[in-house]
Amino acid sequence: MRNELDPDRMPKHVAVIMDGNGRWAKKRLLNRLKGHEKGAEAVRTVVRTARKLNIDALTLYAFSTENWQRPQTEVSGLMFLLRRFLEAERSTLMENDIRLNVIGQIDRLPEAVRKDLKAVMAETAANDKMVLTLALSYGARAEIVDMVRQIAAAAKKGTIVPSAVTPEIVADHLYTRELSDPDLLIRTSGEMRISNFLLWQIAYAEIFFTPTLWPDFGEEEFIRILKDYQQRERRFGAIP
Ligand code: IPE
Ligand code: IPE
Ligand code: MG
Repeated sequence: MRNELDPDRMPKHVAVIMDGNGRWAKKRLLNRLKGHEKGAEAVRTVVRTARKLNIDALTLYAFSTENWQRPQTEVSGLMFLLRRFLEAERSTLMENDIRLNVIGQIDRLPEAVRKDLKAVMAETAANDKMVLTLALSYGARAEIVDMVRQIAAAAKKGTIVPSAVTPEIVADHLYTRELSDPDLLIRTSGEMRISNFLLWQIAYAEIFFTPTLWPDFGEEEFIRILKDYQQRERRFGAIP
């Protein structure tokens, strides 16, 4: 494996399924929320590293539509940590020219969280070195259903004919319409599944699974994964 990262072969968009906070806490006989708290620190590190390496887009799966099924105490603890994260990170986002973006069923989030998100998104709206997207109350199937509803409504209105629906039009109706597809998808904690994350967008992503629990994920491992990514040959179905 190369020793140095090649700046010309960086993934433009990295997506991460940040998993394993609960197990990290359990191993230490701590409350699950302690794991989430530590996980928020790992988020800070990865955001800074991604920016430093000139990655254009970083998308983090922070809360899924399915995660609403967790106990109320865990859900509200996560919402509290999210607000604390936004409060603590807004200056870093400004200093590093990072724009905050969110995808998911945002209207399901508590009012206070939505207000904070809106404020940080507005404050960072003109930043253009990297876009940090938080997937919150996000589920790919719900996103696809929303897209189908919009296109069906347009067809009914007569503003689009079915034969004009293309992959580009589908992509333009997803929450990620302004982002390129992820080049690299990382999942921590050893689970080998996608858990309803970006199903359409990861069609040709390079996938990397690591057994590391999210709170233990750091810059060194991130760089190791990026080096692995740079060794891969992306063929997109063609012959090299
Ligand atoms: C990931 O950690 C964070 C969220 C899903 C919010 P988990 O909370 O899923 O941790 P494990 O998988 O139980 O270890
Ligand atoms: C996926 O992790 C969702 C997030 C990381 C936010 P989960 O822990 O919710 O996924 P499963 O239940 O292991 O599939
Ligand atoms: Mg999990």
